[in-house]
This record gives sequence, C-alpha cells and structure tokens, in this order.
Amino acid sequence: MAMSQDELKALVAKAALEHVPEGAVVGVGTGSTVNMFIDALATIRSKVAGAVSSSVKSTERLLGHGIAVLEANAVARIPVYIDGADEIDHGGNMIKGGGGALTREKIVADLADRFVCIADASKLVKTLGKFPLPVEVIPMARAQIMRRLKDLGGDPQPRHNYVTDNGNQILDVRGLSITDPLAMETAINQWPGVVEVGIFAVNRASVCLLGTPDGVRRLDF
Ligand code: 5RP
Repeated sequence: MAMSQDELKALVAKAALEHVPEGAVVGVGTGSTVNMFIDALATIRSKVAGAVSSSVKSTERLLGHGIAVLEANAVARIPVYIDGADEIDHGGNMIKGGGGALTREKIVADLADRFVCIADASKLVKTLGKFPLPVEVIPMARAQIMRRLKDLGGDPQPRHNYVTDNGNQILDVRGLSITDPLAMETAINQWPGVVEVGIFAVNRASVCLLGTPDGVRRLDF
C-alpha cells in the first residue's frame, strides 16, 4: 500500500537521528516534519546535550520532551541543523518559511557545520518558486518591499493575521521562477526593511533525506 505524506515524513524524521553526533547540541528547525524529528530525538534524549531551536513552537515541543534548549548566543558552532523545506532543488537550495520561522531558521542554520534537510519527495523541484516565497519584513517597509517584489515579476501578498516570533510581517510572493537562488537571496536581503528572505542558498542543505515510496533517498550536495 502507498505510504501517506505523513508516513514519509516520519520515515525521514527517524532517519535523521543517524546524523546526530553523540553528545552534540543539535540545531532544530520548525514544521510538521521537524515535529516528528523532535519526537524521534526524545528517544535518544540522554545521548544529546541539548538543542538550539528555531521557533517558539519547536522550543515548546523540545521542552515537553525534557530536551534542554540552549540560547543561540550560548553556542559558537553546532555540528548539525535539522529542518524541513517547502521546496528543495537539485543543488540543495531551498525555499523555507511556510511555517513563518525563516529568520530564526536561517540564524540557527548559519551556526551549523551541516544542514540536514528532511522532506517528503513532493518537495523536490527542478526550479524553486512554485511555492510562494516568504519574506519577513519590518511592517513600516512593507509597501516599498512589495513594489520591489513586483518589479522582480512577483505577486506579493501579506500573510493574513500573522505575526512572526520576531514581531514582524510575512509577505508570500507568488509567480517567481528562481533560476539563480543565490543571486536572488543576496539581492532581496539588501533591501532596507527586509529581515530575511526564505531562499536558503548561502545556507543550503548539505544533505537531503527524501522520503519516497521506496524508502529514504539520500541526496548529497
Ligand atoms: C517553517 C519551514 C518548514 O521547514 C517548512 O514549512 C516545511 O514544513 P513541513 O515539514 O510542515 O512540510 O520552513 O518555517
């Protein structure tokens, strides 16, 4: 029988445990796949020193399992960051932020030596951009940033009734075909009032564990 999307997510969440070195502080992302990873991490709780979390939601889940959560400022480097993605291309570049946690996710990813992406096979794409690109903005700059995103050919919409953990707004941008993720990430992040764009090219995945009906497919980048 075909596996459901949730079963595929559970499969890669469990497989990610092999990428957690003993005694490590682990970087933990946000989302439904990561929730399953946190539940799996709880089974080896005594073998990890703790976690650096990318969202209030993940922090609550980690603490609920009795896993210590450290401040990002308290660690210099961490060996691994584990997170999902909304889209990932064949170069390991990703769109993230469907769950709104993109800024903290990028901060924790930037602390890590390796980014292990866990995703079901539907997330693998040829070109990023079908999934609306999230951009976290300072509210005062919203209209100016929307104009600039339109100039790039996108159709930005403020995320309704949503405030990030950092107190900012999210614009979801439809209609972009992101053929050069690094260039677009770098360009958008230069605009005043952009807190972070949900393109992860600078901090792209080192490896992706992709849940497929045939099992876990590993992609190295
Ligand atoms: C949250 C994210 C998530 O990684 C992304 O939305 C994937 O989520 P899910 O595992 O629920 O499919 O970037 O900001």
